[in-house]
Amino acid sequence: LKDHPVANEPVLEYRAGSAERAALAAELQATAAVCEDVPLVIGDECVREGAPRLQPVPHHHATKIAKYYYASEKTIQRAICVATEAQVRWDRTPLPERVAIWERAVGLMAGEWRQKLNAATMLGQSKTAVQAEIDSAAELIDFFRFNVFFLKENAKYQPISENAQVTRNSMRFRGIDGFIAAISPFNFTAIGGNLAYTPALMGNGVVWKPSDTAVLSNWRIFNIMREAGLPPGVVNFVPADGPTFGRAITASPHLAGVNFTGSVPTFNWIWGAVAKNLDKYRNYPRLIGECGGKNYHFIHPTADVQSVIKGSIRSAFEYCGQKCSALSRMYVPKSLYEEIKAGLLSERDKLKVGDVSDFKTFMGAVIDDKAYDRITGYIKNAKKNPKNKILGGGEFDNSKGYFVQPTIIETTDPHDKLMTEEIFGPVLTIYPYEDADVLNALALVGSSTRFALTGAVFARDQDFLKLALEELKYTAGNFYINDKSTGSVVGQQPFGGGRMSGTNDKAGGPSYVLRWTSPQAIKETF
Ligand code: SER
Repeated sequence: LKDHPVANEPVLEYRAGSAERAALAAELQATAAVCEDVPLVIGDECVREGAPRLQPVPHHHATKIAKYYYASEKTIQRAICVATEAQVRWDRTPLPERVAIWERAVGLMAGEWRQKLNAATMLGQSKTAVQAEIDSAAELIDFFRFNVFFLKENAKYQPISENAQVTRNSMRFRGIDGFIAAISPFNFTAIGGNLAYTPALMGNGVVWKPSDTAVLSNWRIFNIMREAGLPPGVVNFVPADGPTFGRAITASPHLAGVNFTGSVPTFNWIWGAVAKNLDKYRNYPRLIGECGGKNYHFIHPTADVQSVIKGSIRSAFEYCGQKCSALSRMYVPKSLYEEIKAGLLSERDKLKVGDVSDFKTFMGAVIDDKAYDRITGYIKNAKKNPKNKILGGGEFDNSKGYFVQPTIIETTDPHDKLMTEEIFGPVLTIYPYEDADVLNALALVGSSTRFALTGAVFARDQDFLKLALEELKYTAGNFYINDKSTGSVVGQQPFGGGRMSGTNDKAGGPSYVLRWTSPQAIKETF
């Protein structure tokens, strides 16, 4: 945006011999050498209860980098009380004071904590340096900066109207009385930061359940916010068993909202539990969620083949296909199929899979044993089904880490599970279609799955692009023309999808902060 007053954080490249690479390498060593003790934090109290749990390094699962604890039901209830009480004081804190904490945090994230966050993301979540930098440095900082900016923009429209000496109309952006439960995923450290701290910025009290497989990086964000001066109790750090946490938060009369990123079944469960408890609540809880996708690249016969190949490899295989936005199904016209197939396979063969501490690695391991079993299950089934043909990859090995090779499959069935279910791993399935059938193929995009998160169309034909914009209108919350389906940037392409992909509240967009306020309209008569 030409005149945008907030700049996105530049992404460091970690070139050989650079100071940032040396700093990151040192942090990686330091982080790998210690199994950090990560307590639960309720108010200003650290709690360690039950049997400690260990966070392994996915690409070297014998190494553990964090020891953490699951909150018992009682402890979750205590966190709820603390957050609910803290909200009242915190919401009274003048906006400039709140904003100053966020600005200090941005300074810490961009400065002395940057490589600590990246190292925890690389080791704990098996991201390469560049993928970690995009996430736990740039995107995290951008969320904090842009949300403050959007908050200030909203505050600018005050008063709404004024009639000197007679009346004055204004809006007060209150937090919501009660507590917000933030339930965050492993795949982006930045999402954890956004889910827990955007409600906090807006005057809410938060009980944060980070993902088990992102505990260390999320714990570092929590510490940054303490160092930046966030008062105790505003955000409480509460790793927990999912069902125990879900039951405790939905049973509380103080539940004011849930900020969720995760699976459809979990989000559906939350809606169901909230519905059952409606009579108990003081407020209708805000349920905001992002639940995955089955993201597509649709290739038209007029597409530029080289950008299709480059974009599809990156979208399907960066971070092992574990971005919510990752490409997993591709529609390719038969006239371009051989060329695109050859290009994808030759690029695939160049991808280095292994330890992410090696800066040449393109892909680390998938997150854990459950993911490994799920993804390899799809590959094993594909091998058995005559409609599907493994074109490249298909190998896996979990002896040292949860490694799955980037896999490209061809299918003759556009309704095969590979084309309709979320796999969340490095598996790309291609359906070659007859050129004459392009409109039928286009119709398959929206009809074959209930997800609608991201999608891309590659074409030079402008009339076709216009048609695709209409035909595919509801198939993606983030839609790309001649570019890959991943890599949305905070403030530039606000992120989120509809249908079963979530409530499409657009993280990183101007309206997101408003979802976490309960505005009060005030008319003053003089
Ligand atoms: N925002 C990320 C992307 O667009 C995914 O969560 O790739």
